[in-house]
Amino acid sequence: MTKEVIGFSKLSKEEKINWIADTYFTNSKEGISVLKQYWNSDETLQKLHDDFIENTITNFYLPLGIAPNFLINGKFNSVPMAIEESSVVAAAAKSAKFWSTRGGFKTTVFGTEKIGQVHFLFTGNSDKLEHFFSKVKPKLFENTESMTKNMQKRGGGILDIVLKNKTSKLENYYQLHATFETKDSMGANFINSCLEQFAKTLREEALYFEAFSETEKNITIVMSILSNYVPNCVVRAEVSCKVEELAEKNIQNPTEFAEKFVQAVRIAEIEPYRAVTHNKGIMNGIDAVVLATGNDFRAVEAGIHAYASRVGKYSSLSHAKIENGIFSFWMEIPLALGTVGGLTSLHPLVKVALEILQKPSAKELMQIVAATGLAQNFAALRSLTTTGIQEGHMKMHINNILNQYKTTIEERNEVKKYFENNTISHSAVVAFIEHLRN
Ligand code: MEV
Repeated sequence: MTKEVIGFSKLSKEEKINWIADTYFTNSKEGISVLKQYWNSDETLQKLHDDFIENTITNFYLPLGIAPNFLINGKFNSVPMAIEESSVVAAAAKSAKFWSTRGGFKTTVFGTEKIGQVHFLFTGNSDKLEHFFSKVKPKLFENTESMTKNMQKRGGGILDIVLKNKTSKLENYYQLHATFETKDSMGANFINSCLEQFAKTLREEALYFEAFSETEKNITIVMSILSNYVPNCVVRAEVSCKVEELAEKNIQNPTEFAEKFVQAVRIAEIEPYRAVTHNKGIMNGIDAVVLATGNDFRAVEAGIHAYASRVGKYSSLSHAKIENGIFSFWMEIPLALGTVGGLTSLHPLVKVALEILQKPSAKELMQIVAATGLAQNFAALRSLTTTGIQEGHMKMHINNILNQYKTTIEERNEVKKYFENNTISHSAVVAFIEHLRN
């Protein structure tokens, strides 16, 4: 039976760890030592990480890897990726190399508009509300001037605010639907601050609007929040080449490969069970770069999956075709990213990742992320439609098994040599280690 804890956040870090150890660990000394092993010896750096969240007890590592040779719009990039899954960086790198000799990735940003909404309830005549909104709209802009000043200097700001009547879906429900340009910042704080000011202005001004009845004057603000669905903040990534140029070691018959590849994409377009896994493969690449560059991968995930269902059915994010002997593979995804503000100026590793990417603008980062997602999808589909996924995956995963069994360098060399010519599976590797040890 565990016990309730009161005032956990008020305890010191040491006290928090001791409480966790007393409550949950069978071997307190060992558990505490593991937690402390991950503390940074540089106290200032550790304090920085402690302060990112509440109740920090230690740091949680993820490897940061590099997928080099990403030729995007004629420029080479080395892409930093933070991810735990063994084969992801290797697959991205392999795909990048493959396409670097076939024209590389072509990417285009179609828009960078962000969205935020004030959700409110109004009981009364909607024509009067429309009239009130047209009167109050300039004030909504005016009252946020102190917030928008700096953003405007950078070329951004509030693009528009419209009133939306949603009463056919939910009784008395209306929205202020606002669009924003936030340039190189993701803009969440900016947008939310503007929205909360819109809500305040809306509520206050309604109280003095003479045409409103007493009930109509009482607008209820339900909430003010940005939307992570950004269908007008979209980037496209594409690769293409002549079908015969697809030939390489594992692709001896490029026509057959291209046709099977297109078929695999079509399956993901029409079959949600496959689409989810297909898109998960794309997100392997996207999340890893989004995380390494200090962006909010949950926001990106939510927005992208909503986009994948925009026609009312969950479908593939990527598409492929063969036309006039040319194989093309492309994807359009919504991506709200930032390269200034937030973690980008706080987390030392994020700064390094952005430096590796040559300090990209948010638009440039959108393109790099989209290219990485497409590369990841290409790598997965190439394996799936040729050798199967396990060959490459297990080749990378073998290190995890070797670590799990605490193998010596000699044992590792033996295992790797043996599995150069034998099928790798978890049980086969374990059996071989046991055979070596006997
Ligand atoms: C594994 O992380 C991702 C894949 O399942 C993606 C796919 O099936 O396309 C290999």
